Amino acid sequence: MRVLLTGASGFIGGHARRALDRAGYAVVPADRRHGVDFDRMLTVEDWLPHLRDIDAVINSVGIIVEWRGKTFENLHQRAPAALFRACARVGVRRVVQISALGADERAFTRYQRSKKAADDVLRGLPLEWFVLRPSLVYGEGGASAAMFRRIARLPVLPLAGAGRQFVQPVHVDDLVATLLQCLRSASGRLTLDVVGPRPLTLAEWLRVIRARLGRAPAPILAVPWWLAMAFASVARFALPILHPDNLRMLRRGNTADVAPLTAFLGRPPIGVEDSP
Ligand SMILES: NC(=O)c1ccc[n+]([C@@H]2O[C@H](COP(=O)([O-])OP(=O)(O)OC[C@H]3O[C@@H](n4cnc5c(N)ncnc54)[C@H](OP(=O)(O)O)[C@@H]3O)[C@@H](O)[C@H]2O)c1
Repeated sequence: MRVLLTGASGFIGGHARRALDRAGYAVVPADRRHGVDFDRMLTVEDWLPHLRDIDAVINSVGIIVEWRGKTFENLHQRAPAALFRACARVGVRRVVQISALGADERAFTRYQRSKKAADDVLRGLPLEWFVLRPSLVYGEGGASAAMFRRIARLPVLPLAGAGRQFVQPVHVDDLVATLLQCLRSASGRLTLDVVGPRPLTLAEWLRVIRARLGRAPAPILAVPWWLAMAFASVARFALPILHPDNLRMLRRGNTADVAPLTAFLGRPPIGVEDSP
């Protein structure tokens, strides 16, 4: 089976590419190094030459903040929508979209809404589609995981709202196992939240990371939300991931029922304490 993989140079795309290779799929990477820039792939016609002899498509392109001219509109919405429509036009039967937890009817940030817009296009097409909505994904090479490791190393943890927000981190191996299952599954038309086995607070998550680094728990400095938001609106210019919208999404929480993922994989996902 020939699989076109967008975002193959990224964290999730890279893990996916290696796993697909190992499983015997013929992977056709479609990223900027291979001449595929989403900013220039906004029409169905742009995609058609890339879909010759392709059996399945996995889209793992995305950004967490808009910067250096990259926009949610092009990268999350217009280019993927054109890709999905092109798949339907030429008869690519199977498309897996890596969306994000929160890209649902309650979506309230531009990040989430732009993801949902493309997901909705895909869900309306006559093909076997899968919309995967991961929570925070951690594992070797992940930028957000590296950021949390840096925070976890601090002697005192300055956390908005004392870090009481709920997250449900999922290991990248579980996301990749889900991708492979999507390619094998007899039928599609499935939206699936890809989450770890249990919700934990951000403070607990950082405690687990510290323990894995061989460090004792650190005291938490509770930062009021207004101060965290004020800091984020300035700090985002140096560290774009600190955009206030990302704090807002964290505040809302990032959790979901794990039962559908467990049923799909035929096993529960890896726990944060047991992950590699
Ligand atoms: N990591 C998480 O915790 C997490 C959680 C939920 C959902 N997701 C979603 O999962 C997907 C992958 O995330 P990730 O963590 O693997 O991100 P990542 O490591 O930043 O990778 C992003 C990928 O997008 C590509 N890309 C960026 N701009 C592009 C453009 N203009 N044209 C073509 N490709 C472009 C990058 O290619 P270059 O190397 O050329 O820049 C890279 O391959 C995203 O859609 C993200 O929203 C991630």
